[in-house]
Amino acid sequence: MMTQSYYTTDQVRELVRKEISTALREERLDIPTIPLVANQVLLLVNRPDVTAKDLENIIKHDPKLAARVVRIANSPVFAGTVKVTTIQRAIVTIGLRSLQETVFSIVMGDKIFKSKTFAKLMTRLWEHALATAFLAREIARLKGLDSEYAFLCGILHDIGKPILLNTLEELRRKKPDRFFYSDELVDEILMDYHEAVGGLVSASWNFPDLLKGAIRHHHEYHEAGAVQSMAHLTHVADLFAHAIGRGSYNGEKGVSVMTAKPVFELNMFPNEVKELMMTAPGRVNKVIAEVQ
Ligand SMILES: [Fe+2]
Ligand SMILES: [Fe+2]
Repeated sequence: MMTQSYYTTDQVRELVRKEISTALREERLDIPTIPLVANQVLLLVNRPDVTAKDLENIIKHDPKLAARVVRIANSPVFAGTVKVTTIQRAIVTIGLRSLQETVFSIVMGDKIFKSKTFAKLMTRLWEHALATAFLAREIARLKGLDSEYAFLCGILHDIGKPILLNTLEELRRKKPDRFFYSDELVDEILMDYHEAVGGLVSASWNFPDLLKGAIRHHHEYHEAGAVQSMAHLTHVADLFAHAIGRGSYNGEKGVSVMTAKPVFELNMFPNEVKELMMTAPGRVNKVIAEVQ
């Protein structure tokens, strides 16, 4: 009888760590190109003279996306007395800025946060990104911080993780049958490498410095230099996302925002923290439902 040998968890860990750190060092990690529409929307964010026509021009070339946008404009959150049937009308109904964020989210969800092997964790990562984005925008508004990029920083802060999941999937494809990842090992690998991978993605996708800094340093935000305040905001939004049960791991990590120093350092008052903890879960559910 043939016996099949399996890698032990320690062997898998060693192999994966070696592969990923070599790929990082040699900058040959497999990074997909940025989805076209996401890139086009990103270029609009910085422009003060952006018009509804600019956004319409991006959306109209993608009939499926256009149909989704019109559907969102007719959802109970926005629906008025008149049925929305055109992209133009949808932009007016949803709002230019808000629709830019929604379109960016939809495209990233469709193209980047996708995995066959890690479908459950990928969904969790995606919902974590949306929760963090919503929270970053809310906190930015609350504290009068520059909110231009807050939402996008939230969506993108853990972008290294979906890329790493695809790398893990690819590694296993090369060694079928004898290669298994435990949930704990996946969490460990994502945690340890996602900022560095995020840095490579930011460079490869030519992100503006603000986004690059928030992605590369959202955990050690004191190291973000000139863009520290955005990295700090992203860090706090990330903490809140975990605190409301929208974390980014297979296992749940308990986080208390009431006593967290970074929250305090952002001048959030206890009543503001409590209020956000109470209202955020329901509103995050709506954000997630909207882009499904
Ligand atoms: Fe992170
Ligand atoms: Fe995160």
